[in-house]
Amino acid sequence: MKVDVLLGLQWGDEGKGKVVDVLTPNYDVISRFQGGPNAGHTLEFNNKKYVLRSIPSGIFQGDKINVIGNGVVLDPALFKEEVEALETSGHDLKSRLFISKKAHLILPTHRLLDACYESGKGNSKIGTTGKGIGPTYTDKVSRNGLRVGDILNDFENKYKNAVARHEEILNQYGFEYDLKPLEEAWFAGIEKLKSYTFIDSEYFINRQLENEKPVLAEGAQGTMLDIDFGSYPFVTSSNTITAGACIGLGVAPGKIGEVYGIFKAYCTRVGSGPFPTELFDEDGEKMRKVGVEFGSVTGRPRRCGWIDLVALKYAVMINGVTRLIMMKSDVLDSFETIKACIAYKINGEEVKNFPYEINENVSPVYEELPGWKIDMTKMQSEDEFPEEFKNYLKFLEEKLGVPITIVSVGPDRAQTIIR
Ligand code: GDP
Ligand code: IMO
Ligand code: MG
Repeated sequence: MKVDVLLGLQWGDEGKGKVVDVLTPNYDVISRFQGGPNAGHTLEFNNKKYVLRSIPSGIFQGDKINVIGNGVVLDPALFKEEVEALETSGHDLKSRLFISKKAHLILPTHRLLDACYESGKGNSKIGTTGKGIGPTYTDKVSRNGLRVGDILNDFENKYKNAVARHEEILNQYGFEYDLKPLEEAWFAGIEKLKSYTFIDSEYFINRQLENEKPVLAEGAQGTMLDIDFGSYPFVTSSNTITAGACIGLGVAPGKIGEVYGIFKAYCTRVGSGPFPTELFDEDGEKMRKVGVEFGSVTGRPRRCGWIDLVALKYAVMINGVTRLIMMKSDVLDSFETIKACIAYKINGEEVKNFPYEINENVSPVYEELPGWKIDMTKMQSEDEFPEEFKNYLKFLEEKLGVPITIVSVGPDRAQTIIR
């Protein structure tokens, strides 16, 4: 048995949470492999809406095991908030949520450092989610991090040493802060965390595969936010791509099965950084309004634009996508024409590869397709698809060279069409 991976092909918020939930009945284990509470994965069913940040999206479909893998960074305070909200709504996860001992902990001072570095960047700030992601991964790579497994052994000392180091930096920057309330919430989170099972998740996952139990790896963020291949430096601090699942779960490359690449029928981005197809006109405004394009966690308005096939093709290549999933097609239901960026023009030359740097000299080259102008939100099968929509799917499949096997026509679990 192999691990299937589901991940975002754009700048995040493609709808990963919704589709992981839809696919969960096909799997025994769902596992997050990177990122942390910078993620906000939304699920809707039975007129209820949930937003998950660190917990995998496989918790609502039966008694499936959910794993927080070693590649994830975990904030105990936010973890506590998240599990308590779920407990209140009747979802007790204790027996089916396992946490890797090797996952790194986000300390309260990591969040302060995130804010401190951002304010120091002025106009070139990244627009992070402020969850301490960058500083936590920095400590991991510089071999100063604290891991979940450390909670069980001489923890107070390790914590104090790390915080002393962070405070020195904060003071150097002259950054003002009040650590006490953050620390209180954090240690209450540690107590909550201790009531969960810590595991050697690499052994756990590989054993599942040996026992023919299918595993789904749930990506966070998106390929264009990948630390190596995204629009650096306007990226997150982890590898969001398929290879990240190998590292973030301890699974060999040959054990990767299907790679589900998920994208919106258009494109969005939150935070700063290049976005070649961004719209500043009423089309962009309409996408934001109809698609309710506001951050699931931060509430920040998302920047909107047409689909970018240069970036998407790049993402398909880097990830080895075997199946595509198109989300939010309903948001384009009332558009007269649909535009798709098929190349960039850079200094008068047409370019089809994603360039090293995207600056003001890069402009999108569009192909226009007729809109379908029909409400698709109640459709149940592809037989109902209008001709223009079928053409859009065919056009995308031809350009990307991979079949689109799932189409989403609304936020609810039920508004999903499997082809
Ligand atoms: P994720 O981070 O990739 O899980 O995506 P988010 O949850 O941050 O953002 C996706 C948003 O789109 C959420 O508010 C979903 O409820 C919503 N959504 C998902 N699929 C569809 C769809 O097909 N149509 C519409 N209109 N909304 C959708
Ligand atoms: P999901 O999993 C969209 C963006 C931030 C910022 C950059 C770096 O819900 O798709 P960070 O806090 O990671 O250091 O911020 O990455 N970003 C996301 N954008 N969806 C996400 O997650 C994101 N997680 C981080 O806005 O531009
Ligand atoms: Mg999101």
